[in-house]
Amino acid sequence: MSGVKIRGTGRGLPRGVLTNGQLAQRVDTDGQWIFSRTGIQERRICAGETHAELSAAAARGAMERAGISPEDIGVCIVATVTPDTLVPSAACTLQKTLGLSHDTLCFDLNAACTGFLYALHTAECLLAAAPGKFGLVVGADLISRLLDWSDRGTCILFGDGAGAAVVEWRAEWPSIGAVLGCAGNGEVLRCPARDGHLSMEGRRVFKFALEAAPWCIDQVLARQGITAEEVDFFVFHQANARIIDLAASKYHIPPEKYRKNIQRFGNTSAASIPILLSELEEDGSLRSGSRALLVGFGGGLTWGGCLVEFA
Ligand code: UT7
Repeated sequence: MSGVKIRGTGRGLPRGVLTNGQLAQRVDTDGQWIFSRTGIQERRICAGETHAELSAAAARGAMERAGISPEDIGVCIVATVTPDTLVPSAACTLQKTLGLSHDTLCFDLNAACTGFLYALHTAECLLAAAPGKFGLVVGADLISRLLDWSDRGTCILFGDGAGAAVVEWRAEWPSIGAVLGCAGNGEVLRCPARDGHLSMEGRRVFKFALEAAPWCIDQVLARQGITAEEVDFFVFHQANARIIDLAASKYHIPPEKYRKNIQRFGNTSAASIPILLSELEEDGSLRSGSRALLVGFGGGLTWGGCLVEFA
């Protein structure tokens, strides 16, 4: 038995708001269609803010809530597909900005929208080898950088943002028991490494997500030996309100046990789960002892789930 718990969370969001109405002036769509098919009303889009700035804001917030200093961090992982630069990585840039110690393990991780879950699991494994140190796990994406603003099938969905969690590892704490998976597929969702835009077959991704989310929940519950009723809160990747509501209804999860912020932020990729976690911690929904079941899915294709407790 050994694992991590969350000590504190934070978020960084661009100031600029892009409403459905404003989008409808740029591309052939209408606000009501977007809201009824996705649950999105508006999203934040960077206008000058960088990936590094949003990530640093999220990380500082998480460290402040955790009550720790930069030298306490032993592992810093940034889950992202949209860093400012490939080298230095977003995590190395964060090391400099935050003044993390030179012996901190810093690297980026690409698992698209499931990135935060992959990173949380990786941090848990690595911290076992660095007892006494904390992990800084960031999910940050500026998907607006990859969008074709004339493609109404994709540009309506995404927003920019960053979220972060500081985690602590202890030998006597249970593992988050992450279940993670991948089925390589470059047809239904693709972002070229150079020049080009994100492309997606929305209906196929939707169908994949409807299978992946319950699979993750089933696996996490089985691994932890608990029922859905014993989970305090479900935190879903904010991809589409219909996907989230359908998954929640399958397990009869009451509305007070899962929350959506997709109406305000759209799909922020790797940032969506930690942004929501930080809102839930801030409003007191998640506090010491709360156990949240996290569910992610997205490009790769990738998926994952885990049960994480707040310290
Ligand atoms: O983070 C993980 C990554 N992505 C996702 O999770 C996305 C999952 N997929 C989705 O959320 C949905 O598939 C979308 C929101 C992208 C699309 O919704 P949909 O209900 O699956 O629409 P559709 O693609 O099946 O299209 C239905 C109709 C089509 O018109 P016709 O052929 O029936 O006349 C589309 O041309 O809606 C039309 N349409 C639009 N109309 C207005 C597609 N996009 C739009 C739009 N505005 N933005």
